[in-house]
This record gives sequence, C-alpha cells and structure tokens, in this order.
Amino acid sequence: MFEHLTTAPDDPILGLNEKFKQDQRDHRVNLIIGIYQDETGEIPEFRAVSEARRRISSNVKANYLGIDGDQAYAQLASELILGSDNPRFREGNWVGAQSLGGTGGLRVVADFLGRCRVTDTVWHTNPTWVNHQSIFNAAGLQTKPFPYLDAAGRGLDFSSMMSALEQVPTGHAVLLHGCCHNPTGVDPTAEQWQAIVDVLKRRSLLPILDCAYQGFGDGLEADVLACRLVSSQLHEAIIVQSFSKNFSLYNQRVGAVLFLTKDSAQAATLRSQVKAAIRANYSNPPQYGAALVRTVLGDKELCADWKRELEAMRQRIAALRQRFSESLREKCDHDFSHIAQQKGMFSFSGLTAEQVVHLRDEFGIYFVGNGRMNVAGLNERNLEVTTRAIAEVVGRCPVSAS
Ligand code: LMR
Repeated sequence: MFEHLTTAPDDPILGLNEKFKQDQRDHRVNLIIGIYQDETGEIPEFRAVSEARRRISSNVKANYLGIDGDQAYAQLASELILGSDNPRFREGNWVGAQSLGGTGGLRVVADFLGRCRVTDTVWHTNPTWVNHQSIFNAAGLQTKPFPYLDAAGRGLDFSSMMSALEQVPTGHAVLLHGCCHNPTGVDPTAEQWQAIVDVLKRRSLLPILDCAYQGFGDGLEADVLACRLVSSQLHEAIIVQSFSKNFSLYNQRVGAVLFLTKDSAQAATLRSQVKAAIRANYSNPPQYGAALVRTVLGDKELCADWKRELEAMRQRIAALRQRFSESLREKCDHDFSHIAQQKGMFSFSGLTAEQVVHLRDEFGIYFVGNGRMNVAGLNERNLEVTTRAIAEVVGRCPVSAS
C-alpha cells in the first residue's frame, strides 16, 4: 500500500529549523522561524503568563471543553481584535471559537468554507506565508495569487494590487494579513486599507484577515485597524487570531476564529457549521493555553503588565531593524534601508536563494530560502556577525532586488 510513496519536500520554515537544530556550529544564527527571542537568544515568558500559571495550576479539570472551546476566552480574544465597545457584542452578530493556534484557525475556516460551499477560491497576496496555500488546498479550495510586493521587493505595489482585486469574481474570498505581513513586513497604510475595504464591499468579496502578529507592528490597537474597518463597514468577514507570538505561547497552540455575520440568527447558524467543521477535525481544543490567555486578558493588572511587556518587545524589534540596516549601510553599497521601515518580525531581505545558501553553508546564518529573515532573532551578539556575512556574500554576487 505504501510502495508508491515518494519523500515529501521539507517544510521551508519548520523543516529548515530542524536542520538548524542539527547544525553543530557554535556561532550559528537562527533567523528562520517567527519567534521572538530576547537579548540572550531565549524565548522569554511574559511576567503575566507566569502569574497566570500560578493562578490556574490548581484549577485545571480533565473534562472536555465544548467543541468551540472556552467561550470566556473567545469573548476576550475577540474583544482584543474588535474593541470591547464594538456594537457587535451587543447585537450578537459574531461567532468566536477557540482554535489550535493561527494555523488551526485557518484550517477550520478552510473546512467551513469548503463544507458549506461558501466559496471555492481564496485569493492571497504574492508572496504570502508558505503554509497559506497548503491549508486551503488541503480543504479542497483553490488558491490564486494577486500582486502585493513591488518589483524592487521593498514596498507595496498598491495600484497592481487594487487592479487585481477589482477583477476578483464576486463571492470569492480574499486572504489578507491583518498586520505585519508575513513574509515581507510590508503593510498597507490606513488610507490604503480603507480603499481595500471599499473594493471588498463593492465587489462582495469575503475577507479573511490573518492576524498572527498583533502588537508587533504599530501597537496593539493600531495593528487591528483593518479588522475594525472590516467590522464596521462589512456585514460578513472572517478573522483568524494567534497568541503564539504576542503571548509567547508557541507550543500551546492558542488561537481563535472570529466570524462576523449579518445578524444574530446568521451567527447561530454559522456557529453550528463551525462546530461541525471542528468536530470532524480535532473534536475540541485543549484547555491550558487558552486558560492562560483568559486569565491574563480577564485581569486588569495582568493585562496592563502584558501590554507593557509586549510594547517593549515591539520597540526592541524596531530598534533592531534600525541597527541592522545602519550596520549594513556601513559595510556594503547595496541599499537595505527598507528593512528599517518594515513592520513586525519579518523582512524580505532581497537576498537570492544562492546567497541564502552561502550564508547558511559558509557562515551558519539561516534565512528562509525566499530571503525572509526573522528580525526578532537578532541580538547584540549576532547582529554584527550577520551583517558582516551579508556584506561579504552580497559583494561576491549581486542581490536580486536593487
Ligand atoms: C513563521 O512564519 O515563521 C511562523 O508563522 C511559524 C510557522 O508556523 O511557519
């Protein structure tokens, strides 16, 4: 039965991370996976999360959660996206469900769209996160790209993007990154977001906003601008949320899906379908990670402390971006200044696949093959080594985008 199988390709992000773990070189630098590391290279635990661990340790019960998970958690998670005073919470025209991180949330959305025949096509930015297409394809949906990054690989090609969105057939879904675009770090401005929402509305397209990096771009509130525009101006939309990054809970798989509906009756129908999609997939979610997030978001002081720590991380990444691009300016002719302007954990460096291989094999510096780097993996110790290696590699063979 298994004779015909051939080896599947390694995942471009997680597969490479496995290779990094096997690399024995002391000086190796991991700029692969979207994980925030502190100055010592460790993944920090938020003070508020440590306190939440203490508070819930005696409280964990063994019973199953409901299919759609911890509803107090889903409410608080949705409030973080939409704002606690959002009229939808009074009107009941929304559905929130716990999910297995952002990836699990996207898969619930994909299954829901497919099983309910909402649409058969999901349009996505070119480029997008390497797993987006696989998730929707696995649920039987087709995926199609629309332009996003400009030819120089540094900023948004807004006019091409808008022209393409104008051509998307009515009723199709459009997958957008709520903030901190992965892999480019290039986000639309507030005015551009409004124009995007206008076209979604005019052409009756269904937005799916993937919101995995809230708090790492311009701040917790500013990063959900697109979600709030969609919530106030469209009847129907889908938002997928992850707490992997902004709660530093990578292996707890804590996320949520938020469906915005025309009215409360539609919300009730939709909840039943979302539950059916979840039940057929993983039955119901685990408790612990969501309980940690609920405990922090539900406690005024813990929540304020979490926000302070997250803001400090955001500012540190912004400072690292500046330092990185200045250090490169001192060392090579090529212009890497776009890295200082971009948002969130990632930047598209513009390095070619060949240069990325040189960096990895000769210097032990790991970028994703498409040139994406996790800026949040830099620190005082590895920044200088990294920019020196980039300057050397770029000096030998020119970069693709200039
Ligand atoms: C990333 O893009 O590095 C993260 O979202 C982790 C992942 O699952 O790929």
